[in-house]
Formats: sequence, C-alpha cells, structure tokens
Amino acid sequence: PGSSDFIVVSNRLPVDRVSTEDSDDGWRRSPGGLVTALAPVMASREGAWVGWHGAPDEELAPFHHENMDLIPVALSADEVELYYEGFSNSTLWPLYHDVIAPPEFHRTWWDAYRKVNKRFAAAAAKTAAHGATVWVQDYQLQLVPQYLRALRPDLSIGFFNHIPFPPPEIFAQLPWRAEIIDGLLAADLIGFQRPSDAANFLRSARRFVGAGVKAAQVQIKDEEGSVVHISRAAAFPISIDVTTIQELAVRPDIINRARQIREDLGNPRTILLGVDRLDYTKGITHRLKAYGELLNEGTLTVEDAAMIQVASPSRERVESYRLLREEVDGMVGRMNGQFDTILHTAVRYLHHSYPVEEMVALYLAADVMLVTSLRDGMNLVAKEYVAARGDNTGALVLSEFTGAADQLKSALLVNPHDIDGLKAAIMRAVHLAPGESSRRMRAMRRQILTHDVQRWSEDFLTTLATQATPV
Ligand code: G6P
Repeated sequence: PGSSDFIVVSNRLPVDRVSTEDSDDGWRRSPGGLVTALAPVMASREGAWVGWHGAPDEELAPFHHENMDLIPVALSADEVELYYEGFSNSTLWPLYHDVIAPPEFHRTWWDAYRKVNKRFAAAAAKTAAHGATVWVQDYQLQLVPQYLRALRPDLSIGFFNHIPFPPPEIFAQLPWRAEIIDGLLAADLIGFQRPSDAANFLRSARRFVGAGVKAAQVQIKDEEGSVVHISRAAAFPISIDVTTIQELAVRPDIINRARQIREDLGNPRTILLGVDRLDYTKGITHRLKAYGELLNEGTLTVEDAAMIQVASPSRERVESYRLLREEVDGMVGRMNGQFDTILHTAVRYLHHSYPVEEMVALYLAADVMLVTSLRDGMNLVAKEYVAARGDNTGALVLSEFTGAADQLKSALLVNPHDIDGLKAAIMRAVHLAPGESSRRMRAMRRQILTHDVQRWSEDFLTTLATQATPV
C-alpha cells in the first residue's frame, strides 16, 4: 500500500498547464468547486488526486502542487479518442442526458474504457494507505470501484456521479449495462445529484443485475448466498464555493468591470446572460430562438435587451459538438445581421472561457440569467449567479430539467422545449417588479448560502464513513 489516507480519482486532474511566467511550476489549480471543497480534506489527511493531466501521449511523474499530491494517469492519443471522446462523450454523455444526441455503441470504445478504468484503479490502489478512503468521480470512471475493490478490499470506496443517471428504459440500450451497474455497486456509497437519479440507478440495478434492493441499500451476495458487501445509493446535490463568489462580488474592481460591461454594450435597459460549455445539453439554440422571436415580433428591441452568451469551447473533436458550434455560429450571425444597429448588438457571443473574476463581473452586470438546459446534472452557473447577487436584485430563468431546479424553487422555472413558455418567462424576468425579484432572490440565496460545496463534500464523506465496512 501507499501512504495517502484520502484519494480523489477523476478523469481530469484539478490543475491546468500554464506558462511558467504565470506559476512557479507550470501548473495552476483549475477553477471548479470540487477542488475547493476537497482542498481542506486533502491537506489534513495527506490526500492525493489521481487523474489525467490533459495531454495525450505524455507520461508524467507524480508531483506536488499547493498541498496536494497529484498522480498523473497517462492516456495515449488512441485512448483519448476511444475512451474519452468515444465511450465517455459519445456513448455515455448522450445516453445519460435523455439521448438528446444519439449515443453510439462501439465495442472498441468499450474495450478502451475498461482498460483505462483499470489503469486509474491501479494508480489509486498504489497510492492508498491501508484502510484509506477513495472517492471516485463521474461517468468516465464507473468501473473503477469494482477494479479497485478487487485490488484492495481494505478500502472504503465512494463514487459520485456528476451527471444525470438515466431511467432504465433508456439505460437498457447500453450493451454493457450490467457491467456498468456491477462496476458501481462495488462502491460502499454511490452518490447522485437528484433523488430521481438514485432511484433510476436502483431500478436499473434491480432490472439488469437482479440486485436485491431494500431501503436504498443493495446487498451483494456470494454463491452461497451470504452477504459479502453492502452498497448504498443516495442523492447529494453538489454546490459551489459560495465564499469565493461572494468575496469577488464585492470587490470594487469587479463591480467597476460590471459597470464597464454595461457601458460597452451601449447601456441596454436589460442585459440577458447565458454561460455554458458549448454543449448540446445546454439548450443554447432554444434560448437564442426565443430571444430572436421576441426581437422579430418587436416585443423586445436591442435597446431594451441585449444578450451576452458565453459558450466555452468543449470537446471540440467530437462530431456533435462541431455540429452544434456551426449551428450556434449560424444562428447568432443571422440574428445579429438582422437586428443589430450601429450602436447595439443583439447577441454578444463569446466562444472563450474566462477566469472566475470576469465571470462574477458578468453575473453582476446581468439583470436576467438564462439557464435553459434540456438536461443537466446540477448546473452550477445558476447557483453562482444567485451567490453573486448580494443586493437581491436580478432574475433567474431556470430549466426544470436541471438538478438545480430541485433547490432553486423560487427561480422562474421553464420547460425550454416550450419556446412560447420560454419567451413568456424571459418577458416576465425583464419586467419583474423589484419586490417580487428581491423576494425570489432572497429565498434562493437562503438555500445556496446554507448549502455550499464544503457542506456537500462533508455530507458525502460523513455518510461514507458511517457506511458498513466490508464484511
Ligand atoms: C461536466 C462533467 C465533468 C467534466 C466537465 C468538463 O461537468 O460532469 O466530468 O470534467 O463537464 O468536460 P471535459 O470533457 O472537458 O472534462
């Protein structure tokens, strides 16, 4: 065994490579709430993080960065194509998101997924001290609990799925559905975003591997019928690093930047904001369509309401993402050609990713935040917007198909497929009376401020610790 008492395993390491002018060792901690939530646990328990460093065909030795031991897992260029772009993002991602895009099933992708999951499990097994806790993250690594359990029966193993878990009627399509269920069931605790995700998983466990499910617990029996392992599935809705967002939201330079953004847009009466990875699950085209129709009918003008759409580049070598980019580029081009004036632009479309400081300035500048995902495990952008609005102004239009809708019940909830409903919600948000807007924002802030990402990780890890140890 190794020496770490606490290990996180995720497809990506929580660091990005930067030029050496920007950091001492050429790495910078990536934004994301997960690393913020786990940093204290890491520091207090000799924690290590196992993950891919993002570059194909490159072996890297373990290194230390900001109190974390980072254990890089190498992927060949072929494996990036078959395991990451293929099985993870062209099979599982669309399958788990309501088959918005058609999932593809290829045996070569599945073989690579198994092989890479084995490699992640081996790296964790090598790093873990006797009896350590290992927390595996997300859909790219669903077989890791099982491979790891086989190598190291002494470990306490948790798994958290950041994306939805589909109903068994859809999950049934996966040729390797039983293998995935068995992979996950080897964990002591399997966490999901929503209760409905946990329920979907348990129904699939019953249906596809005949698991005995009682009160969200699954008993795994050996051939003689004695219980060898108990696994539990439950919801642990993830959240954001509230403190960081709140601190940024009161910084004078960031408040000034928000003002400047509004001026640079020609002082429209209302700023509508969308912030997403450029992903077909996010409903970006639905949002543009609704806004475009409002402009076309004259219900809104570009002087009334300008839209900023940040769409950060994502999975650009995957076909469905390339097609989406073309579609969004085309829609925005047509809309701006039709509605722009010399002074005003309908859609400021930014195909970049920005540091968190700029994101908070955008949240402060935005009168209306539009989150219109067709399916979304949680959606942290909605929560960040709420956390940034310290003066209780602003309106959140939120898709009911996000995990966040379970918690942000005072948002203006929409079905993004219903374009007329979406248009009505946008108009309601634009004209929301100050009293109502502040009442809604207060209610949402109460929820977020008491449920930050630290609480999420503590809840999960405490539940895991009290879970029965291996029989
Ligand atoms: C989602 C997934 C994460 C993933 C992230 C970025 O939030 O749940 O596991 O890391 O998207 O996608 P990428 O493919 O760039 O890692």
